[in-house]
Amino acid sequence: MNFAGIELSGSIVNASGTFDAIAARRAFGDALLASFPFAAFVSKTVTLEPRQGNPPPRLWELGAGMLNSIGLPNKGLNRFLAEDLPQLAELPVPLIVNVMGSAPQDVARLVAAFGAREEVAALELNVSCPNVTTGLLMGADPGETAALLDVVRSQTAKPLIVKLTPNCASPGEVAAAAEQHGADAVSLINTVRGMAMHPRRPREPWLGGGTGGMSGPAVRAIALAQVREVRRRVRLPILGMGGVQSGRHARELLDAGADLVAVGTESFRDPLAGSRIAAELLEIDANSGMIGVTA
Ligand SMILES: Cc1cc2nc3c(=O)[nH]c(=O)nc-3n(C[C@H](O)[C@H](O)[C@H](O)COP(=O)(O)O)c2cc1C
Repeated sequence: MNFAGIELSGSIVNASGTFDAIAARRAFGDALLASFPFAAFVSKTVTLEPRQGNPPPRLWELGAGMLNSIGLPNKGLNRFLAEDLPQLAELPVPLIVNVMGSAPQDVARLVAAFGAREEVAALELNVSCPNVTTGLLMGADPGETAALLDVVRSQTAKPLIVKLTPNCASPGEVAAAAEQHGADAVSLINTVRGMAMHPRRPREPWLGGGTGGMSGPAVRAIALAQVREVRRRVRLPILGMGGVQSGRHARELLDAGADLVAVGTESFRDPLAGSRIAAELLEIDANSGMIGVTA
């Protein structure tokens, strides 16, 4: 299949930040390359400068999912290019690099740097970050998203996928702004802002970052509603994600309007979830006579 100009061998990819392909290669060796669980690999968010991330604790288990306040720790652009990119280029699938900056010019530098690398098939823009100048979340306001794309679009001819945040008034409006200002695709949903209280200290939040991002089965209904809303607003290809644990869940996101599906939190429970879900989806489609219609 083709997603926004990227040739893919299947319909399931990983959600950014939920599968460490370099650590998995260390653990499983070349067996990982022989049966890679995803049709493309999406990197964890890369920023210009290194980031430490948030203070611990960083995780809280929910009845149907989890809260994380990891805070996007990463080694920064230069070390990622020198140390990680050569290893990720060995994966047998296209590489999508996820980037974030606190000003459009920072994102433009990241997009230009990765756009110049032939190892990179596409970029995903994580816009769940406040603009240092305006204080507005870049992906929560259609005007901010438009202004961001106006700065970064000219930096690369590679596909730009805008990763929408569910923490805004209207993801459909933001998606429409992304489409009008040159995005090639949108992905959604990112995590939903939430909080857990400390079990022993009254009035204190548990997470070091105060609030965190909710993911897993708890957010699946939100993902379905938002994918459908965005599908009604734009013609762009949609990468849908949020709580997918099975082929049935992937099929539902596709039926709501997604063209490709990402698996996130489920990979923490089962590192081969991507392959399992892809196989389940193929079987569901074969049994319903849909193969050939979607392929
Ligand atoms: C531990 C963890 C780390 C994440 N890191 C990133 C990240 O670096 N960049 C990003 O755009 N999204 C990140 N996400 C969000 C996921 O890519 C995805 O949008 C979200 O978790 C919903 O999918 P899921 O319910 O299948 O996990 C992270 C999610 C989790 C749980």
